[in-house]
Amino acid sequence: MSAREPWARVVIRPAVGADAEAITNFLAAMDRDGLYERHFAHGEAPNRALLERLAKLDGSRRAMYLAVGADGTVIGHAEYVASEESAEFALMVLPAWRGAGIGGELLGALLTGAARAGLAGMHGMIQATNTRAIRLARKLGFHATPGDDRTTVIVSRLCLARSNAESDFASGQRLLPPEPLRHDPDRTPLHRCLGS
Ligand SMILES: CC(C)(COP(=O)(O)OP(=O)(O)OC[C@H]1O[C@@H](n2cnc3c(N)ncnc32)[C@H](O)[C@@H]1OP(=O)(O)O)[C@@H](O)C(=O)NCCC(=O)NCCS
Repeated sequence: MSAREPWARVVIRPAVGADAEAITNFLAAMDRDGLYERHFAHGEAPNRALLERLAKLDGSRRAMYLAVGADGTVIGHAEYVASEESAEFALMVLPAWRGAGIGGELLGALLTGAARAGLAGMHGMIQATNTRAIRLARKLGFHATPGDDRTTVIVSRLCLARSNAESDFASGQRLLPPEPLRHDPDRTPLHRCLGS
């Protein structure tokens, strides 16, 4: 498959436990740089942690979405884990499929799911050099602020029903988070395995 195949053949859907093997294959197909941008760490431990989170999904405070090609291959992965009223998100797309809007669709699915779950905000930690991801988040209405250590950027916004979010964004309005976010790259729900 390639990014030139018709969009209609890619499905965005929630992940389920039975996707473990397909997600394992997806992680094996991801590029090393992309995995580092996603996990902030090299090695197998962050991949194992991701698969462990798959087993703990509740679709509300812990959710995962997949972009799946016509042959069942997972080509994109996105997840959020809520702490109190805000959910931390992270996502990744196979290199051959980037630039076709899949990342945007996955992030939109996370926002819609979090809004339905009644979560107030969503935030993500992105490496300051990762301009693609920062630009994508900004396009979806996230506000970007420098992280505590200046090597990261925290993007955040309120969770609203998607149609509202799109019209607010189209009107140029920034959807600011409910309160300033603290972060510690070693301890966020999606980055707990650094150094392990
Ligand atoms: C960040 C990442 C998830 C983006 O995924 P993606 O599928 O490429 O994202 P999109 O295609 O939705 O958007 C990227 C660009 O493609 C453009 N695009 C959207 N639809 C398009 C289409 N039909 N045709 C061509 N380009 C398109 C978007 O406008 C955007 O352009 P821009 O770079 O000028 O803003 C991907 O680069 C990735 O996996 N990176 C490694 C992991 C990572 O960095 N994760 C983020 C940290 S949590």
